[in-house]
Amino acid sequence: MRIQRVPSKWAKTEVILLNRSLAPYIPDTRKYDSAVLSEMLVLYETVYIKPDRGTYGSGVMRAERRNLTLSPSGAENPEEHEEENTEPITLYILRYGTKAQAYRSIEELHQAISERIQERPYLIQKGIDLLRYKKLPFDLRVLVQKNPEGRWETTGLLGRVAAPKKIVTNYHNGGRILPVEALFVEHMNTSERSAMIYRLKHLGVHIGRQLETAFPGMKEIGLDVAMDDRHELWILEVNTLPSLVAFKLFDDKSIYRKIRRYAAAYGRAGFGNASLSSRRNQLTRGR
Ligand SMILES: Nc1ncnc2c1ncn2[C@@H]1O[C@H](COP(=O)(O)OP(=O)(O)O)[C@@H](O)[C@H]1O
Ligand SMILES: [Mg+2]
Repeated sequence: MRIQRVPSKWAKTEVILLNRSLAPYIPDTRKYDSAVLSEMLVLYETVYIKPDRGTYGSGVMRAERRNLTLSPSGAENPEEHEEENTEPITLYILRYGTKAQAYRSIEELHQAISERIQERPYLIQKGIDLLRYKKLPFDLRVLVQKNPEGRWETTGLLGRVAAPKKIVTNYHNGGRILPVEALFVEHMNTSERSAMIYRLKHLGVHIGRQLETAFPGMKEIGLDVAMDDRHELWILEVNTLPSLVAFKLFDDKSIYRKIRRYAAAYGRAGFGNASLSSRRNQLTRGR
């Protein structure tokens, strides 16, 4: 059977939200339109706007609301000038790539966003304030595969650190791959680190089981997980064609060997003989 891939982030999000114990891991996510943009920017200071079927961080934007209070005298502490006519102003910043542009109204912001998204379906999601490694935000990739016994197993974990000024951590967008332990050291002690790794692995397996209820042909998934300053976990998206080679980088070669072995067993193209021999069968049958 072919490995099931589901490109729509929305379709996968809906299935995860059906599970009451997993729903809290999904940041508020909706289909993008101008009304939703206004609503979300009241609720959250930062939102991410991303293509429903995107990859590699392409097309991802971030909008931020900034409330400034300026007194006419230009005084720094507006409270001391209550009698004066203080005028709160709200600015909206739109970021993508390494660019940033400010707008004075949601309408102008929406206009700029629309020009970039055109007719494609986009999602808008509450922005998570990512934990940092040496001042750069990072998130985590949790690789979960069906093992040869047919059970979901987390086989790989890695961290991805954003390149300076970037709003995404993707490797294909300049992100740097590091072992999770290296990223956690600044924030957790030894036992907190192993508890966190256990939680991440468990979350991966749980998500695999849930997605499989709707997508029975899934064999492998890659969760993009954000961690905030309270060490809460948030699932930003689930990839159904996850990178396996990223795990080649680690010194512990047994990690990648197992990943490859599992991939060969369920027949991922390019891994082992399973796919080759089925292709050969098809060829001979075709003759
Ligand atoms: N809600 C969010 N809060 C904080 N960062 C986010 C959020 N959504 C996306 N990002 C950042 O953008 C990257 C790409 O977004 P993602 O949803 O994974 O799309 P893609 O399919 O392009 O990888 C994430 O890895 C993360 O660094
Ligand atoms: Mg991603």
